[in-house]
Amino acid sequence: MAGMFRSRVAGTGSYLPPNVLTNADLEKMVDTNDQWIVDRTGIKQRHIAAKDQVTSDLCKIASENALKDAGISATDLDAIIVCTVSGDNIMPSTACALQHKLGAPGVMSFDLSAACTGFVYGLTVADQFIRTGMFKNVLVVGAEVLHRFVDYTDRETCILFGDGAGAWVVTRAQANDPNIIISSHLHADGSLGDLLTLSTGGTGYPFSPAAEPEKGPYVKMKGREIFKNAVRVMSTCCHEALNANKVDPSEVDWLVPHQANNRIIEAVAERFGFPKDKVVVSVDETGNTSAASIPLAFQIAKDAGKIKRGQMILLTAFGAGLTSGSLLMRY
Ligand code: UT7
Repeated sequence: MAGMFRSRVAGTGSYLPPNVLTNADLEKMVDTNDQWIVDRTGIKQRHIAAKDQVTSDLCKIASENALKDAGISATDLDAIIVCTVSGDNIMPSTACALQHKLGAPGVMSFDLSAACTGFVYGLTVADQFIRTGMFKNVLVVGAEVLHRFVDYTDRETCILFGDGAGAWVVTRAQANDPNIIISSHLHADGSLGDLLTLSTGGTGYPFSPAAEPEKGPYVKMKGREIFKNAVRVMSTCCHEALNANKVDPSEVDWLVPHQANNRIIEAVAERFGFPKDKVVVSVDETGNTSAASIPLAFQIAKDAGKIKRGQMILLTAFGAGLTSGSLLMRY
């Protein structure tokens, strides 16, 4: 019956390409230094996809790990959602490429574009498909190969971004299962769209880069403005999640924020009195991996034995758009 079901996270997986770009490497490329990058962002390294790897290749490995963890096969899936802003192509979708690589013919597959908030948006879509009774198993993947869109002469952006993929299998929960997605709260403010852009391949960007070099085929960012807005919108979304469910911050076992900058994460956590040891931070290892950041951070904390079944988890993200969101769940 429609509207009778709840969803749970049945399995998680991730993939980080082995090649690493360190702060010491960047010191040789632009006028920067390890101390500045660590002090201002917390980032020590980022993973970089191999020349012959495309986004769907990263998705495939992360998804296989998630399917294994959930104990189901790709043919059990009802839908595949890939959240990305650096997909293989404009068309066909990265989700369709992934569906083929996983061997899941016929399964509905589509990409979702909400930048760094993509994974929280994607989980919400999966949750809604399951709540209505339409689907039982939805694969949600956050994946980026952003380094191909980074200008390695721009020291403000090139220090930030890395590649990676994280995947979750979201499944219909048994009745009375306490481990469910509780609620999500999503927003966007298109008036702030020019703070963070990647114009390449869109209809507003001519295919000759020479025609409008100021747009360029790269990620462009107004860093300070993004920073201020990030703290504001993630705090608002966390408040919404806690207030809607009458949950005190002390009841949350882990805050898993979008990994953009350690100072942004600390500012958000401080507003809720979250102690440092309840906040997942992996930005030092991965840099900013946009839509992949939350599932990667979650997996790193899970593999370290920190995140466990039954715990209350609060996800929050912001990204280009500007998009923002939070999701409260019992894992
Ligand atoms: O998922 C969303 C993606 N984007 C973000 O999350 C970005 C959010 N913003 C940030 O993380 C920060 O704004 C940055 C890390 C990008 C910059 O940190 P900041 O503390 O806001 O630095 P700033 O822009 O205020 O710049 C301070 C100084 C400037 O020099 P002057 O004008 O004071 O002489 C910059 O030119 O730091 C300089 N600077 C650098 N110095 C060494 C900027 N980038 C670098 C660098 N190395 N890589």
